[in-house]
Amino acid sequence: MFRINDNYRKLQAGYLFPEIARRVREFQQANPDAPVIRMGIGDVTEPLPEACRQALHEAVDELGDRKTFHGYGPEQGYAFLRDAITEHDYSRHGIDIRASEIFVSDGSKCDCGNLLDILGPGNRVAISDPVYPVYLDTNVMAGNTGSWKDGRFEGIVYLELNEENGFQPALPETPVDLIYLCSPNNPTGTVLDRKSLESWVQYALKHDSLILFDAAYEAYISDDSVPRSIYEIEGARKCAIEFRSFSKTAGFTGLRCGWTVVPEELCGTSQSGERIPLSGLWHRRHTTRFNGASFPIQRAAAAIYTDDGQKQIRSLVNHYMNNAKVLLTELPAAGFTVYGGEHAPYIWLKTPDSMTSWQFFDALLDRCHIVGTPGSGFGKCGEGFFRISAFNSSENAIQAAQRIRNAWSTAST
Ligand code: MLT
Repeated sequence: MFRINDNYRKLQAGYLFPEIARRVREFQQANPDAPVIRMGIGDVTEPLPEACRQALHEAVDELGDRKTFHGYGPEQGYAFLRDAITEHDYSRHGIDIRASEIFVSDGSKCDCGNLLDILGPGNRVAISDPVYPVYLDTNVMAGNTGSWKDGRFEGIVYLELNEENGFQPALPETPVDLIYLCSPNNPTGTVLDRKSLESWVQYALKHDSLILFDAAYEAYISDDSVPRSIYEIEGARKCAIEFRSFSKTAGFTGLRCGWTVVPEELCGTSQSGERIPLSGLWHRRHTTRFNGASFPIQRAAAAIYTDDGQKQIRSLVNHYMNNAKVLLTELPAAGFTVYGGEHAPYIWLKTPDSMTSWQFFDALLDRCHIVGTPGSGFGKCGEGFFRISAFNSSENAIQAAQRIRNAWSTAST
């Protein structure tokens, strides 16, 4: 008799986005002519930058010729990509990260979950609420939590993000071993300021904890005073892993490519009390379970670091941030309290008239034919909030903002 991983049975109904998709399908079956605008899942809508498309075509041609054919590549990623990342994303900003510390993968969502493979059982985990569900669910799957009780998993230390604390998580009162931080934040669209990040690094160094820093939305930071990388903070090389992604920077949600940084001096403690570098463990995991991101995709990723690529991704990010600006202008005009949207493609709004997040989801779909994401899907503290994604065409963003303004300026719930 084989056994299943019972931890999976602790997980709540389904992953948030498939649940939203199910509800939207039902709505569309009942209202086939409704012109639905999707601003739920944060998925990019605009075509791949030209530089990436060209690099993809060329890479495929290389694979089609015996003289330039590539089979398995280096599991950690091709040097041409790791060097470009090191140079553009770290060295140029005065950040000390070496190519040997970069691990290219098929995306940072996978890495967030996979990373738990190299960490032992019994770690006390701190996760913000609301949160990108992947941090929480992967810890449930790994057996790092107790059961689901009153809307939360036992054993997790929840760091509450709310209007009162400006969505900056406070340091936990009880010591924790793993700390998930996401800035620019999904779902609130807010950022951690330098002072807050410094206090987290100090905390982690003092308690020998590990910070898992998700910077997938770094390209959306519009002000140089906001840290783009945890390694801008002194001491972070000893206590933090960073996840980065090409998905939101260059429209790679379908292509899949990202990277994880594991600095050489970052060590964890073994059962026997020895200090062991995480980099070696992650390297071992990567080479055993992964054969590297595909060659054409890595070529496409490297193309964003060319002059043309840089211009093209800047214009892509500006496009989505213009949508965010439209929403940030129109929604308050319709009476909504909004957060985020300045350094991230997400607007976090307070639901009107004390509606629950799912009530607002239904009202928005019914009245405006707009799909968003209920804040409660990101955690208990997300209740009463709602996330609108700015990943869309300009036309849809303008149209959506107008529909919401018309519906909520002229009618009350
Ligand atoms: C989201 O909508 O939160 C994102 O699409 C999630 C992701 O990047 O995996």
